[in-house]
Amino acid sequence: MIDTMAVAQNAARKAGTILRDNIQGKRTISYKGDINLVTEMDTRSERAIVDTLHSAFPGHGIIAEEETNIRNDSGFTWIIDPLDGTTNYAHGYPCFSVSIALEQEGGVILGVVYDPMRDELFSARKGTGAYLNENRISVSGADDLIRSLLATGFPYDRKVSEKNNLDYFHDLLMASQEVRRDGSAALDLCYVASGRFDGFWELKLKPWDVAAGSLIVTEAGGNVSDLSGNLFNMHGEEILATNGKIHSKMAAIMQNTRKHASP
Ligand code: IPD
Ligand code: CA
Ligand code: CA
Repeated sequence: MIDTMAVAQNAARKAGTILRDNIQGKRTISYKGDINLVTEMDTRSERAIVDTLHSAFPGHGIIAEEETNIRNDSGFTWIIDPLDGTTNYAHGYPCFSVSIALEQEGGVILGVVYDPMRDELFSARKGTGAYLNENRISVSGADDLIRSLLATGFPYDRKVSEKNNLDYFHDLLMASQEVRRDGSAALDLCYVASGRFDGFWELKLKPWDVAAGSLIVTEAGGNVSDLSGNLFNMHGEEILATNGKIHSKMAAIMQNTRKHASP
């Protein structure tokens, strides 16, 4: 039997290498919205991943951000972000990743996130812990919000939607040690899993942004939920991922933010 983890890691490394080798080059950029861009490298990366997965598992479904939507009743679906952090990539800012998850009957059973610039491969298989390259990782032990390093991101529709995360950002920036906005949600989640960040939240992410990273966080001992602390749904609008110790504190601050938001 072919090992799903080995194939997923191989696909992530292949795609990541293509991205890394071309980061300096000139590229064609097109826009999905006024600030939401896509480069031809998103598509090249996706093709490398889909080809690798499809030749190993021709019967599996595959959903990827740019152009792949193979749905079937095999019970297995790969969920892929071929380039998470595409704005960073387009500017040559070396913070981006490749994210690959495998869903079985509605639950994520495997996740791989690869940062080709640092050669860091985060991975987890359900029930067997989380890893950075060969080493087991776990979330931080921080339990005080004022000593916690948090991360977030802002949705592409922030100029036209009031649900733009600015209120939460203000309140959590004041309550924590610092808040970073690095531009790759999949990597933000892996940084929570490895204890570099203590917590992360974001709105309006897509399943391919969070499928792999959310499993990596829970397998590293962290918590993943919606912003109120309820059951996480990768098809929903919200994610709060923490080391577990600051989870209810962050959720309480966000609840307070909502209470004071103008109607
Ligand atoms: C984006 C990144 C970013 C997050 C955005 C995502 P993309 O994904 O994950 O960190 O703030 O909301 O859409 O567009 O670079 O694949
Ligand atoms: Ca993404
Ligand atoms: Ca992407």
